[in-house]
Amino acid sequence: MIEPHLPRITKAVIPAAGLGTRFLPATKATPKEMLPVVDKPAIQYVVEEAVAAGLDDVLMVTGRNKRPLEDHFDRNYELEEALSKKGDRSRLARVQESSDLATMHYVRQGDPRGLGHAVLCAAPHVGREPFAVLLGDDLIDPRDPLLARMIAVSERHGGSVVALMEVAPEQVHLYGCAAVEPTGDADVVRVTGLVEKPEPSDAPSNLAVIGRYVLDPGIFDILRKTEPGRGGEIQLTDALQQLAADEKVGGPVHGVVFQGRRYDTGDRADYLRAIVRLACEREDLGPDFRAWLRRYVTEEM
Ligand code: UTP
Repeated sequence: MIEPHLPRITKAVIPAAGLGTRFLPATKATPKEMLPVVDKPAIQYVVEEAVAAGLDDVLMVTGRNKRPLEDHFDRNYELEEALSKKGDRSRLARVQESSDLATMHYVRQGDPRGLGHAVLCAAPHVGREPFAVLLGDDLIDPRDPLLARMIAVSERHGGSVVALMEVAPEQVHLYGCAAVEPTGDADVVRVTGLVEKPEPSDAPSNLAVIGRYVLDPGIFDILRKTEPGRGGEIQLTDALQQLAADEKVGGPVHGVVFQGRRYDTGDRADYLRAIVRLACEREDLGPDFRAWLRRYVTEEM
């Protein structure tokens, strides 16, 4: 049930201004969020996920090479005209899908000073309402709706909600990691602390923070005062740690423990896994592709 005093969440912020160094040279002149996953850029899945969760006001935080991102969510009259003249209705519909999805807004980050700084760039657009953050390179399978659950948890408890996923102990150093306490709901925990990319021996749990957040606007006040942390970047995790530690500035922080399918498309191996899995499951491509893949694995590997 939605608490009457809590404003409805309508805005999604998608940080997409990182340098994407793990994917060089592909990302030298193209944002990594534009790399195709089968036949759609990764970022389109993310915007579709926001819209499916009821958030159709989308602010994208962009940096250098922002043009392809903006163009993708805009009309392309020349192409539409050409497809329409050919009578190619299905491709025309595919081209128009991305421009009809949501009300898109853009802000530039300037220097990529970290995820926390990217989120802070959204402050003038967001105002004093709670909002969602979806990382532009993190793909959640559309059949495993995580964001809707996080919004429901934030409407029930107030404060902020992070998405958590169990990872192997040797993977913990790649993520922000949460110290947690159980709640009455099996998939919801209370977050009591957060550490960015800890050594396995310092990790408070094997629950890693993944790229979905529902944030109380109090986060902006904290981010304005957050000093650069790990890697010289302004870390969102450091600001969230303060929210978790001090309820008065906008806490509490809860975590939804996600058990569905998720791909980090900024990581080369995970990007390939995303493509293979999604291609296998596609009605148009799947049957042929699965047959080829089976032959490849049994005969050529
Ligand atoms: P990553 O940690 O994946 O960093 O950012 P990155 O620079 O994009 O990629 P690598 O590690 O160099 O390969 C997580 C998310 O935060 C955004 C990124 O675009 C990505 O969606 N981000 C990161 C920003 O928008 N601004 C930043 O300053 C840093």
